[in-house]
Amino acid sequence: MIETRTYDAKDLKEERVKKDIRSTLLTGRLVVFPTETVYGIGAYALSSEGIANIYNVKGRPSDNPLIMHMKDAQAITPYVYIDQPYIKDLIDAFWPGPLTMVFRKKESVPTLITGGLSTVGVRIPSHPVAQDVLTIADVPICAPSANISGRPSATLFEHVMEDFNHRVDIIIDGGKSDVGLESTVLDVTGDVPVILRPGVITQAMLETIVPKVLRKDGVKANETPASPGMKYKHYAPRGELTIVEGDQSAVVRYINDKIKDHHDKHKKVGVITSDALIKQFNTTYVYNLGDASFDSSIASNLYIGLRMMDQFQVDYIYSVAFHGGSYQEAIMNRLYKAANHKIVKL
Ligand code: TXA
Ligand code: MG
Repeated sequence: MIETRTYDAKDLKEERVKKDIRSTLLTGRLVVFPTETVYGIGAYALSSEGIANIYNVKGRPSDNPLIMHMKDAQAITPYVYIDQPYIKDLIDAFWPGPLTMVFRKKESVPTLITGGLSTVGVRIPSHPVAQDVLTIADVPICAPSANISGRPSATLFEHVMEDFNHRVDIIIDGGKSDVGLESTVLDVTGDVPVILRPGVITQAMLETIVPKVLRKDGVKANETPASPGMKYKHYAPRGELTIVEGDQSAVVRYINDKIKDHHDKHKKVGVITSDALIKQFNTTYVYNLGDASFDSSIASNLYIGLRMMDQFQVDYIYSVAFHGGSYQEAIMNRLYKAANHKIVKL
């Protein structure tokens, strides 16, 4: 068992703390830090011990590659080939920020972090604490989302503590992650960039910079996934989650019927909804993601809602769908995965 040290943003100004963060990373140990999307569990990218620690502690399959985080766009040149002319425009428009670009990797990137692929994902986070950590470390840091594999990503310090207290050396408290969903992953190796994972940098936003952007859809059987992470069940709460889509009153009626059936069998039921509907459901365990017309609020609260269902220890969870707004694709992508594609369309 590890005695985890916790710091917050202002501690990072202290020399003692800077030293601790740097030596922890350089000796192949783990530091969890906040980013604007979700918390990341970080290791020095060129330390095989650090990388092995990430896979172990997360329980992550070793063929699911890690993304490298760097301080700024200049820092990426020793590691990746900038194959396409449009990349520079994307960098200018979206970095630092919630966009991961997948490049052809150079020799310097260990295959251990790429799951054997010839490409590597890179992100320049904008969160001031993430920037501080990258500046202090002064090396690239691999950081997958800070959750035990298969659990919802952590967007709060408390949720990181749930998963990683006593399992990593350092956890840095940066409060709530603003965006709340992981970065958009964009393959920039070809003539036309391809979205491998939707996020709050949307296809429409990318197409204001490059003329055409493609969207890679889910993985078909017997096909190698473009983004290996897509083949795993993800973001899942412990209760069985079903998404219910359709006309509002029909959705409320359907969920209440299900609640009654489950209650008859002495099961606990949770509901995830927006604030317009919170009073409509006949169960104690209702989680309100906020005003559905602010998709940024729904996005930033989604994982908190999923984890809340675990705290309620409900057996069944029903969530309304959140269509509308520019983040809807990213939100529904995570919800569908959390539900393992269990969707009822009314
Ligand atoms: O917002 C984020 O991206 C967060 C924060 C901490 O930066 N990180 C994150 O990392 O979500 P992770 O490892 O949980 O998700 C990275 C995704 C995975 O689905 C992985 O399969 C995919 O990116 N990926 C990584 N390298 C790739 C590559 N070379 N080619 C295709 N997909 C890749
Ligand atoms: Mg993840």
